[in-house]
Amino acid sequence: MECIFNTTNIPLIFEDQFISFGTSFDKTQKSKDQGQVNIYGFGERARPLRYTPGTYTMWNLDNLNTPNENLYGTHPFYMQYYSNSGRAHGAFLFNSNAMDVTITDDNLIWKTIGGVIDLYVFTGPTPEDVTKQYHELIGTPYMPPFWTLGWHQCRYGYKSIDEVKTVYTKYTQYGIPLDTMWNDIDYMDGYRDFTTDPIRYPKAEVRQFVENLKAKNQHYVVIIDPGIKFEQGYKPYDIGKQLNVFIKKSDGVTDIVNTVWPGYCVFPDFTNPKAIPYWENLVAQFYSEIPVSGLWLDMNEVSCFCNGTCTPTKKYQKVNNKFDPNNPPYVPGGRQLDMKTLSMDAVQHISINYNTHSLYGLYEVNATVSVLQKVTGNKRPFILTRSSYPGLGAISAKWLGDNEATWESMRNSISGMLAMQMYGVALIGADICGFIGNTTYELCARWTQMGSYYPFTRNHNDIKANDQEPYVFGQEFVDMTKRVLANRYSLLNFYYTQFYDVHVNGGGVVQPLFYVFGHADSNPLLATIDTQFMVGKSLMIIPVLEAGVKSVKGYIPKHKPGWFDYFSGELISATGGETMEFDAPLLGYTPTLIAAAKIVQKQIPSLTTFDTRRNPFQLTIALCQHEFHANGQIYLDDGETAETIERGVYSLVDIQAKRISQNVLTLVTKVVKDEYQTNIPKLDQVTFYGYPLTSEVCTVTVNGNAYHRITIEAKKRIVTMRGLGLHLLESNLIVITCQ
Ligand code: GLC
Repeated sequence: MECIFNTTNIPLIFEDQFISFGTSFDKTQKSKDQGQVNIYGFGERARPLRYTPGTYTMWNLDNLNTPNENLYGTHPFYMQYYSNSGRAHGAFLFNSNAMDVTITDDNLIWKTIGGVIDLYVFTGPTPEDVTKQYHELIGTPYMPPFWTLGWHQCRYGYKSIDEVKTVYTKYTQYGIPLDTMWNDIDYMDGYRDFTTDPIRYPKAEVRQFVENLKAKNQHYVVIIDPGIKFEQGYKPYDIGKQLNVFIKKSDGVTDIVNTVWPGYCVFPDFTNPKAIPYWENLVAQFYSEIPVSGLWLDMNEVSCFCNGTCTPTKKYQKVNNKFDPNNPPYVPGGRQLDMKTLSMDAVQHISINYNTHSLYGLYEVNATVSVLQKVTGNKRPFILTRSSYPGLGAISAKWLGDNEATWESMRNSISGMLAMQMYGVALIGADICGFIGNTTYELCARWTQMGSYYPFTRNHNDIKANDQEPYVFGQEFVDMTKRVLANRYSLLNFYYTQFYDVHVNGGGVVQPLFYVFGHADSNPLLATIDTQFMVGKSLMIIPVLEAGVKSVKGYIPKHKPGWFDYFSGELISATGGETMEFDAPLLGYTPTLIAAAKIVQKQIPSLTTFDTRRNPFQLTIALCQHEFHANGQIYLDDGETAETIERGVYSLVDIQAKRISQNVLTLVTKVVKDEYQTNIPKLDQVTFYGYPLTSEVCTVTVNGNAYHRITIEAKKRIVTMRGLGLHLLESNLIVITCQ
């Protein structure tokens, strides 16, 4: 018996503006884990994945990437994991008020300053089960449009559409893969939403640029901030004022004003049903002028430049212990709650800001999703948001906000990305090469290599920083970028299939090592590793995270089937359980291993996701080193229509390799579903790693016919078959018999 939430001896306090309760850690489990307590969650935060004792705040805040402090999203969820048994459980406090969690060696105490105790406990028993159970409650990760898995180029500070065009042209000239060009607030007229600068970004020219991108099956995304410039004569202001949809001051009547990029702003109250058509009309009108493929919703914590409000207000005074949103008896995080945001007594339709603050981004995204789906003709909407709350990942992508061009930020992006997977936000990435500050050749090279494995891959930069598009670092850097992005593009459908899986079942597209190998490896070290990660259950990424090195150490979890180098097919370790050193030349790939018993699908990469989708498939089959089997799956749909999975308009192919006798191995592809049949590429090549060769003389039949294009590299135990030309939506049988 395992006790997973134990309130004994921890006081329960339930007051108007203060609720506290907690759980004591199981002493028996702790001693089995040599005193180590493994707690994860409580985002959003830039820090190692596993928690150390301390007090941690949850309250949405534009707080750069300040380590350990509360950042843009609130995710009151945690998981506890026991190394010795591989078991896990978790809990989620469904509460949006500012809160602190204090973790000690013995217990965990939650303190929130409002709402109720709406606590969900997840019994696991594996880390993956806990995640899935949580996602079942808050919504499984959303199925992104295929193109969003490609490479994105952005920066703050593209001064004109000409500059954007130059960047785009350079990408084309150098032959670097690119799916999406982005514009930050630079494109706007005086930073007013839904406008373009008439001189630097003339609307007709921007439109032409977007049309050109579309003709090449590439995409354009722009930023929109929630702050609407407080200015009569500016339509989004006038209409909103007339409809009375802006957040109010404590009097419930006057619009609250604060400053953001355009100066004084008011803020749509997305909890007000009247604000939805208001916002939808603005987005639809803008889309009719500039047909973006998606929107980037920033500053939606809400982030403002003044604390509370910029126009003087009479501060609410605490009288006779009455409820006072401006002076709560306890202040999570220890600093004023209205720091860089609206006053706590500001009034929204559903409640006051004191209660709704951390929900702002989620409500904004929700309002934007529906209109994007409408205007794009029922395409899956793409939104990149900064602020988040549970449920966000079911409708949107997110990035990790304003990081720095430092090794520390690069390292923290791994734990940030992995934690977001726990919260159901699967399409996640960090600004590659770093946002604030000047990147370096080396940092940007390493970050591009690792970032090419993020679910969401975008190079983004601050206005004050030096350029960091790949071509500014010279031809060798370009060649490296092309190699690592070719690898990324070859894996697009592999990522897409992971998204299908987590959309249906919950879970993470990328995962911590202990999620996948915790049941087989009780080494307490595994629970602490956040410098490596898994893509699905198949690929392990071991990035270089420091300057001046040519190799990197990585822990190989115990995995009885074995491990191979993904690129060379060399057997790395027969069973795992050790730390090894990997060559990592500065302009090479991030060391990548494939777990045996897994099949990874690839496609021949082109320069866009659109073209890549049409290229032949290849399989890398890493055979289990004792039973010589492996399996994988390929998901296929049109890549863009909303609800393809819900409507069942997709195809699914299972692939299984199996040794059936001493000399005979079979590869079977089985059609599980074939409701999507357009332009399905052929399966052209299969490569087996760790083939159990009994001799070098092998005969092959493919669907009963003799086949000869087989290459056997006996020493490396790699067997490759080319030019197969197999239809994926028919069952196929390959039989390999070696004398
Ligand atoms: C915020 C965003 C950043 C963006 C900038 C200007 O800092 O996080 O990505 O470039 O605003 O819009």
